[in-house]
Amino acid sequence: MCGIFGCILKKGRAAPLIREALKRLEYRGYDSAGIATIHGGKLYVKKDAGKIDEIHRRLDLDDMPGRIGIGHTRWATHGAPSQENAHPHGDCKWEVAVVHNGIIENFDELKKELMERGHEFKSKTDTEVIPHLIEEGLKNGLNLEEAVIEAVRRLEGSFAIAVISTKEPDKIVCARKESPLVVGIGEDGMYCASDVPAFLPITRRMVVLDDWEVAVLTEDSYKVVNALTEEEVIKEERHVDWSPELAMKGGYDHFMLKEIMEQPEALKNTLRISDFYYDLLAASLIKAERRFLVACGTSYHACVAASYIFSKVAKMHVEPVIASEFVQRYGEVVDERTAVLAVSQSGETADTLVAVRYAKRKGADILGITNVMGSSLCRISSVYVGQSSGPEIGVAATKTYTGQLLALTKIAIKVARRKGLIDEKGEKELLEELSKAPEEVRKVIEKTKERIKELAVKYHNRKSFCFLGRGVHVATAMEGRLKLLEISYIPSIAYPAGESKHGFIAVVEPGYPVVFIIPPPDDETFDDVLSNIIEMKSRGADIIAVVPESALEKVKDFVDDPIVVPDVPKLVEPIAFIVPLQLFAYYVSVAKGYDPDKPRNLAKSVTVK
Ligand code: AGP
Repeated sequence: MCGIFGCILKKGRAAPLIREALKRLEYRGYDSAGIATIHGGKLYVKKDAGKIDEIHRRLDLDDMPGRIGIGHTRWATHGAPSQENAHPHGDCKWEVAVVHNGIIENFDELKKELMERGHEFKSKTDTEVIPHLIEEGLKNGLNLEEAVIEAVRRLEGSFAIAVISTKEPDKIVCARKESPLVVGIGEDGMYCASDVPAFLPITRRMVVLDDWEVAVLTEDSYKVVNALTEEEVIKEERHVDWSPELAMKGGYDHFMLKEIMEQPEALKNTLRISDFYYDLLAASLIKAERRFLVACGTSYHACVAASYIFSKVAKMHVEPVIASEFVQRYGEVVDERTAVLAVSQSGETADTLVAVRYAKRKGADILGITNVMGSSLCRISSVYVGQSSGPEIGVAATKTYTGQLLALTKIAIKVARRKGLIDEKGEKELLEELSKAPEEVRKVIEKTKERIKELAVKYHNRKSFCFLGRGVHVATAMEGRLKLLEISYIPSIAYPAGESKHGFIAVVEPGYPVVFIIPPPDDETFDDVLSNIIEMKSRGADIIAVVPESALEKVKDFVDDPIVVPDVPKLVEPIAFIVPLQLFAYYVSVAKGYDPDKPRNLAKSVTVK
């Protein structure tokens, strides 16, 4: 997720206004940034790695002439944060500049085609194919609007782009498909942006572009056309009454809720990552004799879930290990035949880095899954997957957890294919099943969010909770517990349900809330989970449960407060079934009057041991 912005003014300089707008979009990405303006028939570009303020100190982003310009603040998905990978990107002669938010899935083939036509590329980004495609259109006599339309029709994936050109320096052409893009209508100029906070201090008049719509902005007007039909589209103008703060949260009260709600989009972006990296990771795991999944906190829970998934899907043993215990527990067995797959959304967690650096010194192959390109984990890993979940501002991990699960499941499928356990058709079927995750999560959110708000109010004063699950939902139970305790400060427990009679059950007394994750009736753990529920019920526990529709009839007599979810494909279950527990933790925290985004004593990235 990145932030783009463009403006064309009646008078004055665009650059300072663009920089301020990018600052208001920094929550969308902040690993590199840049601005391009046009003045006197010349294109000016300043860009670099780092946050906007750092770059401004180094390059003075305001010191650029011109009433027209575009800007970008980046969350890297293709190509590490660097000056050459920062946006804007240009064509061969820098007569066209483009900023982009999204992922171009077919950029490889487009890049090869353009290079065969003599185009030279300067970056490793997917975005850079866009200005060169536009350059081709202009060379063939198209005007800027036509060239942009022709270019975006070649793109597969998601995009929100803003384009300027010295050939037509009096207009900005912007376009979107799946990535958000809005147009701001001002007294002193026209604006386009990824999100309204960018121009909210300037104007509250806006139109929201829809997929395949192209807007052409001049200093005092705009028009919208459909890139597929080329027909003009009349858009409904809206008035934004949000505060800038509320707008940054997409209208939600907290970043955590916004990030829970945007999981369908985030998962789509994770699915867009090239198979190439997943295949490399699978090959490395197969080659190794020992395989450890090393992580902390929520990321460790993703590794626990993965240990079940790798066993079931790929018949491969992978050992999930809490990073701070890795050296003590396995340090003596790590050698060049070992693979360590570290999972870290920040890529900077000290405990995880200590573990992988130790393993690397012992000759192990270091692999990574992270949400932050250019992070320490990326630099240490021989191969890594950037999960592309977008920046996660809330301290409690939500969308990055489901993104990790999806990435790990995809690796397991690739391992199964490489081991010959499934053929090409089988792989396609499993990947097709996994690709349903975004839509299934969206349905779970829609179906449960109101019910969970009620439950949160009902239970928010309880003194303790226990979360129980079996199989892969041991991880779901562990993650549901962590979510609740870290933002509501309620001491909670999580157990494999089968283990509860070996100790935890002594805690259960009438009214004690026990949260179960129940699988569908055809799941091999269903009967045992039901037995555990009955055990707890018979001791007076209040039973809350995530229940798939197909299981409701069988459990309704024992579950006091069911959270009914749609049945989902088996591979999608751990991704979909955690969402109600994320929402439960969020609403309990709010009911207790806490700030879920900033829980006490916690940091988003624990960079100290
Ligand atoms: C989870 O909600 C917490 N923010 C915390 O447990 C976190 O998962 C842990 O610190 C690991 O962070 P990482 O994924 O950035 O390595």
